[in-house]
Amino acid sequence: MLFAQITDLHIRAPGLKLSGRVDTADFLARAVAKLNRLDPRPAFLLITGDLVDRGSVDEYVHLAEHLAPLVMPVRLALGNHDGRDGFRAVFGANDYWDPAEPFVQYVIDAGPVRLLVLDTLDTGRPSGALCDHRLDWLAARLAEDRTTPTIVALHHPPVRVGMSMMDSMCLLDGAARFHQLIAAAPNVDRVLAGHLHRQVTTRFAGTVLDVMPGVAHQCHLDLAEGVSQQLIFEPPMIQLHLWVEGTGLVSHKVLIDDFDGPYSFASPD
Ligand SMILES: [Fe+2]
Repeated sequence: MLFAQITDLHIRAPGLKLSGRVDTADFLARAVAKLNRLDPRPAFLLITGDLVDRGSVDEYVHLAEHLAPLVMPVRLALGNHDGRDGFRAVFGANDYWDPAEPFVQYVIDAGPVRLLVLDTLDTGRPSGALCDHRLDWLAARLAEDRTTPTIVALHHPPVRVGMSMMDSMCLLDGAARFHQLIAAAPNVDRVLAGHLHRQVTTRFAGTVLDVMPGVAHQCHLDLAEGVSQQLIFEPPMIQLHLWVEGTGLVSHKVLIDDFDGPYSFASPD
């Protein structure tokens, strides 16, 4: 079983660049082209939030146009830059979540692993939230299967990582109960997140928290206290999650840019 993950697309309306300089739609087009060239082909693509930048319908229409060429199914999660109304106006007809649910949360049964996708959007705030309704949903999903290796995906990292401005906008409301639920479910193999626009790994609640870079701009790493976050054009990345029998879930980081090679290791001398 192989699936792909990207995050933090920040698509704007056609013709608009993020911060006046990031052509996020062009970055996504390059990521989609890379994904479509992968062999073997991932079973699906998971996108862990900040699908668009302002949450408007025209941005989601623009996003849908850029996802249309994908040769694999796509599963979408919401981040702080998303908007539920705009999202549902364009993607509401999709059938992989319960339309009666007020939040965009759902299960993906993917053979040897199971994914639980959460909605941490706290409208009007850059930080994330998991209210009792969303956490009750997570508790029920975890309770119904205590054996299958489970991946929990959400936009906001549930802990601080030493980036002071981003730490002020991590998962805040509900973070303590989220930690308790994950710690009580030893079959949670991985927590996948975005939001930081950087690659970050740490131990979390007895499992591994894996935060991946965005597919467009990244956050410049400055570990000093109180700095204002700046963007930087470090290489964007796809992540490929592969189930390896005898090992478990293995996560390969794949740069989207093209590089010279590959070449044979065979030496002529
Ligand atoms: Fe983002």
